[in-house]
Amino acid sequence: MPSPENNSMQGEHLWMPVPDPVMAEVQSHNRGCVAIVTGASKGLGREITLELLRRRVSVIAVARTASKLQELRSEALTAARGHAWYIQCPADVTTDHGIREIEASLSQSGLVLIALVNNAGTINPVASIAKTPMKEWRHQFETNLFSVVDMCQRFLPTLRATRGRIINISSGAAARPYYGWSAYCSSKAALNMVTQSLAAEVPEVMSIAIRPGVMDTDMQEFVREKCREGMKASEHDKFVKMHSEDKLLDPTIPAYVIARIALEGSRDMSGKFYSWDDPQLDRFRSRQDNAYSPTLGSLGVSLVSQTILPPELLFNHPH
Ligand SMILES: NC(=O)c1ccc[n+]([C@@H]2O[C@H](COP(=O)([O-])OP(=O)(O)OC[C@H]3O[C@@H](n4cnc5c(N)ncnc54)[C@H](OP(=O)(O)O)[C@@H]3O)[C@@H](O)[C@H]2O)c1
Repeated sequence: MPSPENNSMQGEHLWMPVPDPVMAEVQSHNRGCVAIVTGASKGLGREITLELLRRRVSVIAVARTASKLQELRSEALTAARGHAWYIQCPADVTTDHGIREIEASLSQSGLVLIALVNNAGTINPVASIAKTPMKEWRHQFETNLFSVVDMCQRFLPTLRATRGRIINISSGAAARPYYGWSAYCSSKAALNMVTQSLAAEVPEVMSIAIRPGVMDTDMQEFVREKCREGMKASEHDKFVKMHSEDKLLDPTIPAYVIARIALEGSRDMSGKFYSWDDPQLDRFRSRQDNAYSPTLGSLGVSLVSQTILPPELLFNHPH
């Protein structure tokens, strides 16, 4: 693994000496850990990426648009404060080539994969079953479902070894139909079942699906601006009204919960489909974990003692 000093990694970082022995202890535990976040360039994935970096976990940030990943660089470096790498990985998760790029980024980083956040998704096309061309149905399934299966297949061996965590970003639409959203609803419903199946087949990896709420992101803007024709008017109006009444959720709020689950979730959660605001997740909502505290006593608790990464990998990662 390249040292933080030589700056030779594809990703980005800052390096600062750490005089505080408590901080040094925590960093030595956490150094070398990385999460993959797909759809990291904007919306929810962007906020999950920043939250993980704040928590001193490096991130392989995946999206198709390289310029958007680059735009995030400066904020990512500020969030990481020299304690984690921001690794930009422009890749399309629906292609074999794209997933190979992600594998290459991981292997070149020399970091230990502890979490996979499958967040990339699309709601396009929005139209009734009768009017949606099969090609578009298939593309939505490629993005929302098959890419996730592919990512899990590729990274399961590593995640098994590190006893890592998989977070699949689902939707409330997995559990109820919306007129014109059949491909989206079905792909997210299938994603929930893939998550349950993963939990049953691979108990050593925590796998959950989570719905992040109706968030103020480009996806919602697309629904408001471009989808009226394909939707039932009353359902479309609901989203327009939520926006005009400022009721859309700031994505930083579910991102905080999701990032913490990616690092601290326990294996008894595996296979479940959560809503981001489920009371069972209250422990991941508490801001009392002092993640940003310079003394870091509690960070040691949240990232070290609760982690399920085996000690040998925490201290001596294999690269
Ligand atoms: N917004 C909501 O209200 C809402 C509600 C429930 C669930 N969700 C779910 O939450 C997740 C994030 O949604 P969002 O609102 O943040 O969406 P968004 O703002 O549209 O962002 C989607 C992200 O996915 C990336 N992406 C899309 N296709 C990709 C591909 N083939 N390969 C790699 N990256 C790809 C996009 O970047 P590029 O275009 O550059 O690739 C972007 O970074 C999605 O799974 C969505 O279904 C959203």
